[in-house]
Order: sequence, then C-alpha cells, then structure tokens
Amino acid sequence: MLREIAIVLATLPKTYRQWHRLFAGRRPYLETDETPSSAYHAMIDLYCRTGGRSNDLLHRFIRKKHPPVEFAKELSAFGAVSDGHISAITAKINRDGYCISPFVVPDKIVSMVMDFATSTPARLTAPPHEKSSYSVYSAENPLSPGYVFDHQDIVLNQGVQELLGDPFLLRVAGAYLGCAPVFDALALSWSALAKSDDCLSSALAQQFHFDMDRIKWLKILIYLTDVDKDSGPHCYVSGTHKAGSQPKALLERGYQRISDADIVAHYGKQRIVELTGRRGTVIFVDTRGYHKGKPPISDHRLLLIFSFSSSLFGGALQSLTIPEDCCETLKRAMRASPRTFRYYAR
Ligand SMILES: [Fe+2]
Repeated sequence: MLREIAIVLATLPKTYRQWHRLFAGRRPYLETDETPSSAYHAMIDLYCRTGGRSNDLLHRFIRKKHPPVEFAKELSAFGAVSDGHISAITAKINRDGYCISPFVVPDKIVSMVMDFATSTPARLTAPPHEKSSYSVYSAENPLSPGYVFDHQDIVLNQGVQELLGDPFLLRVAGAYLGCAPVFDALALSWSALAKSDDCLSSALAQQFHFDMDRIKWLKILIYLTDVDKDSGPHCYVSGTHKAGSQPKALLERGYQRISDADIVAHYGKQRIVELTGRRGTVIFVDTRGYHKGKPPISDHRLLLIFSFSSSLFGGALQSLTIPEDCCETLKRAMRASPRTFRYYAR
C-alpha cells in the first residue's frame, strides 16, 4: 500500500486537477447514484496516469466502509461449494485476472434462458437496410452479426433471476471484491457466425481493450452454448488486471482499443488465453485486464454477463428494474444483502 501511495503522490503535480474533479463528483453521486461525467472521466484519466493505482487506493476505502456479507451457501443451484472452493477461485482471479469455474450452470437453468433467447426479439447490432432493428434470432438466417437483448427483458427471465441471486456467484463476487458486492449490469447477446470481414468491425467483435466503468468490479461470463476456440471465446491477457501491469506506452493512448500486434509485442502470445467451455460454463473475469471477444467462425454463441462492483461510482447505469415478483432465490439474496440489489430493486 505504501508503494501505491508513493506512486500516486508522485503523479500529483500533473493529476491534482483530476483528483479534484473526481472528489467533486462524490457528493452528487451519493445523493443521486449518478456520477457526473467530469468525475467519471477524471477516474479514467487517473487510472491511466497511475497505472491503475488510483483505483486500487479508492477501492481500499470503499472496502472498509462496506464489509463482506454472508449468502446462504447451502441453497446454490451449483451444488455444495465450500469456502475452500471460493478461496481457490478468488486466488486464481487475483493471480491471473480470470478463473473458469469448476461448477457449471445446471441444464434446467440454461434451458430457461435459451428458451427466452430463441423466442424474444433482440436488437440487431448491424441491421440490414429496410428491416426492423429488432428480431427473434434465427441460427439458419441471422440478420446481423449480433443480437442484443433489452436489459429489462433479460431481468424478467426466471433463469436469469435464479443465477443473479445464486449464493455461489455472489460469494465469489464478494470474496474477490472484499466487500458486499453491488449488482452493476447485465447483458445477454447472440453472436452469429461471422460471414465476412466486415463482421469483424461489428460492435460484438472487438479489439483488445480494458473496461473502466467502475472503481473495481468482477464480471461473470456464462456460456449458454458450447464455446471452443472457433465459436467466439473470450480472450484475455493473463495478469493484466494488476496495477503496474499495463505498459505506459499503451496507457498513454488513454481508453483506447489496442491491436493484437501491440498486445503480442508487449506481452508475447503465451499470455493470451482463449477461455473456452461447454454450455453452462461460468467464467469469472476482472475485465480491467486486456480482453476482447473473438468472432465465432464455426458456431454461434449465446452469452450472459453479470457485473458486480464495489460501488456504482463511474459510468452510466442500466435502465432496468428487478421485478417485485422475482424468484425466491433472488428475493433471499436481496434480504441477505440489501446493498447488492439496492439500486435496481427500488
Ligand atoms: Fe470489455
């Protein structure tokens, strides 16, 4: 911690204005849950200038204010997950930035989400001319490389609710963040087969980048279709979630996309992992590290993502409300940790 403070202090002559903007955003955030854009952009700028140490320092203070909470471990759909399992998963994320869970989503829950995803219209990320921008996904005739479901539609699905309130996922999020986790965002999308090079520029097929929406967070990726190296795996540069692990030359570009060539030049190919797994696979990943989605070329992919953070300070929040008549699993989680669902359950 002392080294962290020393490095942050050394940047002060160039960053004090940004710190001022960031702290000026604290009061409006506490009053409205919305972060002024100037404070959010100051957070990103400080991240780049301090190699991530500004976020780590801020997170230390948040963690102290919001101690961890207990979730009823015996009631998980993933089965019996011991404290030892949670520690091992957390240690792996701390070391590498990601962990493929040894526990998978039960088929029954995968089917609940799959039924929804094959019958509900989703927004086309690149709609063809004169067609509606919403359509039900068709594997035989995809109209767009990506289909993105509306947040409110997603949260009404019972399978999604079962997962969102599952003690296993919440325990990992809480253990990694070291505090009561806050449900921050969700997403569900189809990635169709890439038919041509222009698909590579679609919103879903990205170049390497780091996310910076919050101070500290953990994303939970759930594959709802089998994902191998050709069907759109999440790619991650191992260990790049740690302070000081992202080279100055890349951070000086700011919050930018980075080419594969630059990533390989800085880290070598061996640091890039393609995270694969069969349907139901859960992957915990700190997307502060460099990552990208790889476009599928052999089969489509359905991906559900939850994000939990230590606080909602940062970028815009989603427009969704957890319904009052949500499933019992989610209601139980809300009772165990009101802070976790406070914003989206109001
Ligand atoms: Fe990302």
